[in-house]
Amino acid sequence: MEPAPGRRGRCLPLLLLLGALVLALAGGATAAAWPHPHGHGGSVGLAAAADGAGMARTAGGERWYRDLALRRMESVRSSFGARRDLATASASTRVYHVTDYGADPTGATDATAAINKAIADAFSPPNNATMTGGIPDLGGAEVHLDGGTYLIKGPLTLPASGGGNFKIHSGSLRASDDFPTDRYLIELSATKSGRSYDYEYATLRDLMLDCSYRGGGVTVVDSLRVAIDNCYVAHFASDGVAVRGGHETFIRNTFLGQHMTAGGDPGERGFTGTGIRLDGNDNSVSDVVIFSAATGIMVTAPANSISGVHCYNKATGFGGTGIHLKIPGLTQAWISNCYMDYTSIVAEDPVLLHVSGSFFLGDANVVLKAVNGVARGVQVVGNIFSGRDKGVDIVQLDGKFTTVDQVYVQQNSATGMTIKSTSARASADGNGSSWTLDFSPVLLFPDRIGHVQYSLVAGDEFPSHTLRNVSGNQVVVATDKAVSATVHVLVDQNSD
Ligand SMILES: *[C@@H]1O[C@H](CO)[C@@H](O)[C@H](O)[C@H]1NC(C)=O
Ligand SMILES: *[C@@H]1O[C@H](CO)[C@@H](O)[C@H](O)[C@H]1NC(C)=O
Ligand SMILES: *[C@@H]1O[C@H](CO)[C@@H](O)[C@H](O)[C@H]1NC(C)=O
Repeated sequence: MEPAPGRRGRCLPLLLLLGALVLALAGGATAAAWPHPHGHGGSVGLAAAADGAGMARTAGGERWYRDLALRRMESVRSSFGARRDLATASASTRVYHVTDYGADPTGATDATAAINKAIADAFSPPNNATMTGGIPDLGGAEVHLDGGTYLIKGPLTLPASGGGNFKIHSGSLRASDDFPTDRYLIELSATKSGRSYDYEYATLRDLMLDCSYRGGGVTVVDSLRVAIDNCYVAHFASDGVAVRGGHETFIRNTFLGQHMTAGGDPGERGFTGTGIRLDGNDNSVSDVVIFSAATGIMVTAPANSISGVHCYNKATGFGGTGIHLKIPGLTQAWISNCYMDYTSIVAEDPVLLHVSGSFFLGDANVVLKAVNGVARGVQVVGNIFSGRDKGVDIVQLDGKFTTVDQVYVQQNSATGMTIKSTSARASADGNGSSWTLDFSPVLLFPDRIGHVQYSLVAGDEFPSHTLRNVSGNQVVVATDKAVSATVHVLVDQNSD
């Protein structure tokens, strides 16, 4: 946290070098931004501009190029000036470049201390403003990874003093071979701070995190409003991203995989680890791909939303799970627009669970797992399933459910799989006095029919008829005399 008095001096040679680099780059960079009268590509540099001016040009054109060159020099000068006075600029703009702290952007040497120092400096609050519960407002401070790759031997940790309104972005982190296996590359975690929340409005963006099969990627503990955006987390041994406590971590536009693979990996049976672990409320996972891990998303706390997630982490046939909702009796999860690619959703004692608009490929399905046998307020509706004609149920029970209430599994479509539903209809033709309609192949729960409606159509006949028996998911309608009739029956498995 304390300022580093020697920093500017130490960095001067590097700054001069950087200044020269800026000089070299500025021409190309600015040319792209300025309009070019003849529509040349964006890579026009100073030399190209001069060549252009030598060709047939009107006086106006030459002036344009002269102005262009002048403006460009101006821009180079000012950016060079800014770089030369970088330490001051950093302090006032609050962008902390890790290379200014000596972090090696080639990844050859350990950069842990340097990056942690940059983070610590970013955490010195610019004023006394605070956020929720007194979290210091860091005023938009950025820890900029300068597009480098950094080797780290230990986690990047945030000061226990807490902080909000900051970003860490734009670079790659790679765990060393001796990185502690029980830690994460980036840890938003302040142990024993005594506050309810330690970090707020933290953004981790445009980061490639390579865990080197040691620990995990990111952990977010007791934090509020954290965004993990456009990141790529690979080679994790434990979790790609783990959230515990806190509220509102948004994991979006992000790719997670233990192994870099695009599917059909020969080592798939051996995948371990978890892509995303949510052990807190009110989080959102959206537009995320999990391409290898034993479990795609493990959810152990209620009120989390999952949408637009593509799980092909480890086929359920090989023992993997796409999304595991391990919150028996208090699920409160909604999953929509997901692509479960050979990976299933498992929900333990689901109470308030919604799954819709999703595509299940390769016999992937929804498994309701009984713990205390409660399924209440469950909607698995409007999904499409594609299987391989192995008779796999689109929704499957694992164990016995004794409490079933407001469970709606319906309006799903499938090819190559067995449709299961909590409501069904059927018709039977015949000539006789008894009609039996067997709904057991389609109804999800065994021996459970809550409601029956039937109608009997018997041409000119007017037999007396009755619902004789409803058991074993079969419905028996009987008449007092033999007639030729069609019986139409609607059933559902809810009891109210
Ligand atoms: C911050 O708070 C301290 C202590 O209350 C006070 O002395 C100081 O002037 C404040 N600084 C600003 C910038 O308001
Ligand atoms: C139905 O069965 C009865 C007696 O078994 C027979 O008289 C009648 O013709 C049959 N009706 C039809 C439509 O087959
Ligand atoms: C209904 O059918 C089941 C199975 O065939 C049978 O065990 C049960 O006794 C029947 N109930 C009645 C009221 O006929």
